[in-house]
Amino acid sequence: MRALYNIKNFWYHIIKEEVSLLHRMIRGVTNMSEFKKIQPEQVSRNPFTLIGRDWALLTGGTPKKCNPMTVSWGGVGVLWNKPVATVYVRPQRYTLEMLYAEDQFTLCFFEEGTHRDTLAYCGKVSGRDTDKVKDCGLTVIDFDGAAGFQEADLVLVCNKKYVGELKEENFCDMAICKKDYPNQDYHKIFIAEITAVYQKEKKD
Ligand SMILES: Cc1cc2nc3c(=O)[nH]c(=O)nc-3n(C[C@H](O)[C@H](O)[C@H](O)COP(=O)(O)O)c2cc1C
Repeated sequence: MRALYNIKNFWYHIIKEEVSLLHRMIRGVTNMSEFKKIQPEQVSRNPFTLIGRDWALLTGGTPKKCNPMTVSWGGVGVLWNKPVATVYVRPQRYTLEMLYAEDQFTLCFFEEGTHRDTLAYCGKVSGRDTDKVKDCGLTVIDFDGAAGFQEADLVLVCNKKYVGELKEENFCDMAICKKDYPNQDYHKIFIAEITAVYQKEKKD
């Protein structure tokens, strides 16, 4: 009897998950229309303020299971004749597991001065302990197979090209090494090709 209950319960949860994913996908298709695909060179916001001041959500995983964390260190530029984004992730971050597991990740930026609570929350709480997407009321959209958010106004879809790490012996300025890595938790580095840029159309 108990085994039967467990099987029923198992299938109930599987079906519930699938229905919820279907809902999210249908919503995603609709909401996606708010975004316009642009070229990386068409991004008009200053990359220094965009990342360093306004912060971003770095999201690993898939549209079905993802986790966002706030980042304010990173960059965009050109490497191997490709538009690239570079992010730096400490080894203790839960997001790291997802970045290793999947080929793609996204960087989501919000309208200037908005969503500060979400960014602060995702920069303090770990996805190991809670579902941050749910907690923040974020809506997942499938951006070319990667997870991004409806609430963002600029989304970079990134495809991993190089994974490495900072090393103590490679620092030229040991003051930085001592100050930022007293626990030797050197950042892992992800360099990824920006394969698509989606920007929300401005409403007048
Ligand atoms: C403004 C801000 C910027 C941050 N930038 C980074 C960053 O660039 N790299 C990093 O590893 N952690 C950064 N963090 C810390 C992570 O976002 C934070 O530890 C987060 O809770 C990790 O979530 P996770 O365990 O779900 O991956 C930042 C936090 C804040 C508030």
